[in-house]
Amino acid sequence: MLDLVLRTLIAYLLGTIMGGRIVGALRGGVDLRKLGSGNIGATNALRTQGVSFALAVLAIDVLKGVIAVSLVPALPQFSAPILKPAVQAYVCGAAVVLGHCYPVFSGFRGGKGVATLAGVFAALMPAALPWLLGAFALVVMLSGYVSLATIVATLVAVFYVTCLSAAGLFSSAGVFTLAMALLVVWKHRDNLRRLAAGTEHRFEKARVLAR
Ligand code: G3P
Repeated sequence: MLDLVLRTLIAYLLGTIMGGRIVGALRGGVDLRKLGSGNIGATNALRTQGVSFALAVLAIDVLKGVIAVSLVPALPQFSAPILKPAVQAYVCGAAVVLGHCYPVFSGFRGGKGVATLAGVFAALMPAALPWLLGAFALVVMLSGYVSLATIVATLVAVFYVTCLSAAGLFSSAGVFTLAMALLVVWKHRDNLRRLAAGTEHRFEKARVLAR
């Protein structure tokens, strides 16, 4: 039990290491939370700081998701495991995303968890990635809305695990994916309000299929 708690805690703490904060500090104290949408993620970094800044934020946030579900569950075990390794990996996956979304050191005011979740999916469900990236790219190229593309891709993940994977919805992969989809939609509630009001920021240059 202690092993599981420790691993979950390590994954959570890993999640609190925000790419946006690190890159912002390295670039002379840029605070993404005071710019653009106010989000600390790669989308707002791209919107307000440009491509290289955004790619660095994205890399850190994706990488911590990968590490949390591949290296953390493989740490030395002090007692007999109470969960199967695969289930433990999903627990760590949820913890790292929650650490990003609700970091204890930043007053629980974090990001939307999408890049970190993408890292978790890349490590634990690589076969789903083409579906998720395909849906994401299609919606961005049609609409220019990254937030909408993110929500659609997350719903596609639920569809994938329910209908296209052997795991199914009533599995650790399924429960994890459904819980993360609900979290992503909740974290995008302001984006959804802006989309409904027609005031959401649009990446016009990305709308290559709508010209
Ligand atoms: O992953 C975050 C993205 O979907 C929306 O970011 O900055 O437009 O709120 P932002």
